Amino acid sequence: MVSPHDRFDFVVAANRLPVDREVDDDGVTHWQTSPGGLVTAMDAVMQDRTACWLGWAGDPGEDVAPFDRNGVRLHPIGLSTEDVRGHYEGFSNETLWPLYHDVIVPPRFRRSWWASYQRVNTRFAQAISEVANTGATVWVHDYQLQLVPAMLRSLRPDLRIGWFNHIPFPPVELFGQLPWRHSVLRGLLGADFLGFQRTNDAANFTRACHQLLGTSSTGDVISWRGADDGRIGAEPRRVRTASVPISIDFTAMEELARTPAVRRRSREIRASLGNPRTVLLGIDRLDYTKGIRHRLRAISELFADGDIAAPEVTLLQIATPSRERVSAYQDLRSQVDGQVGRINGDHSGIGATAVHYLHHAYPKEEMAALFQAADVLLVTPLRDGMNLVAKEYVASRWDGRGALVLSEFTGAAQELNSAFLCNPHDIAGLKGTILTAMREDPASLRKRMLAMRRRVRSHDVHAWAQRYLTALEAAPGKPGRG
Ligand code: G6P
Repeated sequence: MVSPHDRFDFVVAANRLPVDREVDDDGVTHWQTSPGGLVTAMDAVMQDRTACWLGWAGDPGEDVAPFDRNGVRLHPIGLSTEDVRGHYEGFSNETLWPLYHDVIVPPRFRRSWWASYQRVNTRFAQAISEVANTGATVWVHDYQLQLVPAMLRSLRPDLRIGWFNHIPFPPVELFGQLPWRHSVLRGLLGADFLGFQRTNDAANFTRACHQLLGTSSTGDVISWRGADDGRIGAEPRRVRTASVPISIDFTAMEELARTPAVRRRSREIRASLGNPRTVLLGIDRLDYTKGIRHRLRAISELFADGDIAAPEVTLLQIATPSRERVSAYQDLRSQVDGQVGRINGDHSGIGATAVHYLHHAYPKEEMAALFQAADVLLVTPLRDGMNLVAKEYVASRWDGRGALVLSEFTGAAQELNSAFLCNPHDIAGLKGTILTAMREDPASLRKRMLAMRRRVRSHDVHAWAQRYLTALEAAPGKPGRG
């Protein structure tokens, strides 16, 4: 029986719940499991504990009563239309997202969005403080909730608080543009442990703290004398930072890819494309960080140069709709629509389509089939915290076939160094890398794929969550350990 007064030993807070709310035509609410790495990762660590997950239900509306699902309490935080605009679309996705991704588009700094960001972070901190048991572990996720650690610590000093950044943390030269930079750093320093995707992200954060707050550090521990409200406290807080790169459920992905239905579907996909010699594949959220325009430019030139031609070679580009009310995403969509239209106008023939472009989201089964249908997966972000699509592709290729072209500017490139690495800004270089990947002999492709599979298998999402929680548990801020 769900009671609003229940308390939990393990609390997860993320901008989104693991389920999305959908209200049908009769006004009845349904909850759909949202696919994604975080759900799988948290499932594994939530099973043996009394656990609660707080997050937004994905649409504007009132708070909905908490409910249980698969043994986990889900606690929706309702956001008003104004806060969806100010916190989610505005400050999270028009200020922080571009700033943290190397200002690929200019970040917008608006004081009303900052007020909304503070308001929503306060709501999360208060709700967590009401559901967390004494001494509970709280795991806060991502850039939408950076003020929560310090807010929560001042409400509940007994808690063990960790935060993990799924996206990059920028160099201080860029981060320093943020008018509220001190508040964000102070917010994060309320945690015991801060996890990042790459060592460079952790180093960027540490450097920002030194430069902007005057902290000091020994090894990976930052000492911080400021109290959470910015006043100088007597005892320094010690906050550990480390890189703990996120991963996927390798076994589940491989098992799915091995099922007869997925294998059949992958043959069907190739047949529907006219059984080309080479299928190039791109699968991304439609986001300007993903380098889709650079990829299309390279592909367009390869067609124009005569290095590739339809129907022998075709590009299948899946772009999942994302953040569609934000203008930079609307602009990107028209640019990509235009590029695809031009390439097809110039280089397709009847029954010979150069680029198949689909603006849809697909379930995991279809993704697994698409991965197997591809000869080359093109992952060309200009900046990406990790890129789980690259890891899912590798896990799906139990046949040891397929090539991966992977941008150096992804977190995944640090682990998948047997991929064909590329700099997506260098169009000539990218064209060359795509051709090399297409022409590489099967034995050498297999060697590369097996090396990448070994890495992802041994560093899967379960290992990631365990590593994170062990580091959080061992962080020096633990009561009684300084
Ligand atoms: C990235 C972020 C996540 C976010 C996801 C989808 O992976 O790190 O926090 O949930 O994109 O974006 P959305 O805006 O739809 O939540």
